[in-house]
Amino acid sequence: MRLSRYFLPVLKETPREAQIVSHRYMLQAGMIKQATAGIYSWLPLGFKVLRKLENIVHEEQQRAGHLPMLMPTLQPGELWEESGRDNSYGPEMLRVVDRHGRKMLYGPTNEEMITDIFRSHVGSYKELPLTLYHIQWKFRDEVRPRFGVMRGREFFMKDGYNFDLTKDDALHAYNRHLVSYLRTYERMGLKAIPMRADSGPIGGEDTHEFLVLAETGESEVFYDSAVTDLHLGDREVDYDSVEQCQAIFDEWTTPYARTDETHDVGVFANVPEGRRRTARGIEVGQIFYFGTKYSETMGALVDDGKGGKVPVHMGSHGIGVSRLLGAIIEASHDDKGIIWPEGVTPFHCGILNMRQGDEAADAACDALYAALTALGLEPLYDDRDERAGAKFGTMDMIGLPWRITVGPRGLKNGVVELTSRRTGESEELPPEEAVAKIAKIYEGIA
Ligand SMILES: Nc1ncnc2c1ncn2[C@@H]1O[C@H](COP(=O)(O)OP(=O)(O)O)[C@@H](O)[C@H]1O
Ligand SMILES: [Mg+2]
Repeated sequence: MRLSRYFLPVLKETPREAQIVSHRYMLQAGMIKQATAGIYSWLPLGFKVLRKLENIVHEEQQRAGHLPMLMPTLQPGELWEESGRDNSYGPEMLRVVDRHGRKMLYGPTNEEMITDIFRSHVGSYKELPLTLYHIQWKFRDEVRPRFGVMRGREFFMKDGYNFDLTKDDALHAYNRHLVSYLRTYERMGLKAIPMRADSGPIGGEDTHEFLVLAETGESEVFYDSAVTDLHLGDREVDYDSVEQCQAIFDEWTTPYARTDETHDVGVFANVPEGRRRTARGIEVGQIFYFGTKYSETMGALVDDGKGGKVPVHMGSHGIGVSRLLGAIIEASHDDKGIIWPEGVTPFHCGILNMRQGDEAADAACDALYAALTALGLEPLYDDRDERAGAKFGTMDMIGLPWRITVGPRGLKNGVVELTSRRTGESEELPPEEAVAKIAKIYEGIA
């Protein structure tokens, strides 16, 4: 992409309404525009990152054997009357009446609808286990929408639902989700810690929230610092293996890690003093096992193969895809702007022409652009007729992890400059070598 042809409405002024850095940078970098409280348009740069996160979530869900589908944003009110949550969900639910006077709602979550789909089509244990998920816009009429996409009213969420014959099978599904979530967040360059949490309006027995540590997080968290040393890395995981998923679950949940809702001072005191941490965190996902709560009230029963009919064991599992943009920026920025991790960056590398219109500089930039594109990488070439200072400012704000700077002086010596946004370190090298380095960095990522 050439910046002269892109739509990147970078703001010069600091937006006053932004209280936290991710909200400010997303507005300043021209990623989002507020439509009304808690509802945003996603401008091309923001949309590009959102799509990258969505793709990672899809890939990791399908790697775990979960099936993608798509349910609508609007739901019929009757389903919620059947489950009893029509009354309990409260004013966060946006209710709508259609022209025939039928009660509808903009879905805040999909337990009822997925249970209805399941009971309409599945009648036998032979069709289990089954996990269905979708990534769809949700609406919750939050009292205080704030922090930009972090606590919106309309937000993009992956929600998945497992159906199993027995509690043990459903607990395997729970562990499998935990492992797939760890993988998902690691690919996004995030450390998200699973913490014992409270189940809230979904109801149920077991639940973990995944929290990204950040000073601006809304939750207070307590943990053993040993948990932050754990990495999945490129470990092979067989998602069908009960033992392997259980072992990873145990590894991550044995060290103390809880949110304020489940924090237990007595148990926390057993953590060695030097490893006890109190911090703040951003909730980027949550997994639940809730047993037969919906299957019993909504009649989602299967033949158990022994002549009886039993309600299926279920769980639901969510990732806040749009919130993740904010969480990643909170975890990765400096005073000049965003610093995208390689796994989610909107463009792999910036090309900055210091002297637009200089024949040698223009030709070198075009050649770099062509070479990177031929390798399947997406560069963003700042080809605007602007001062170099303004170009550096824009590149730093939008946070591409790598930048190649091209100027007439370097070119006389046959070199360009390759700079890491994260460390600020630069090296001069021939253009072909800069391209080879970028290609190597993105091997297995892009
Ligand atoms: N108002 C919101 N704005 C953006 N993301 C949200 C919002 N509410 C929830 N999410 C994201 O969706 C994920 C799953 O939602 P859920 O656990 O049902 O939400 P909650 O814990 O707020 O009840 C959360 O972990 C969070 O990342
Ligand atoms: Mg939650």
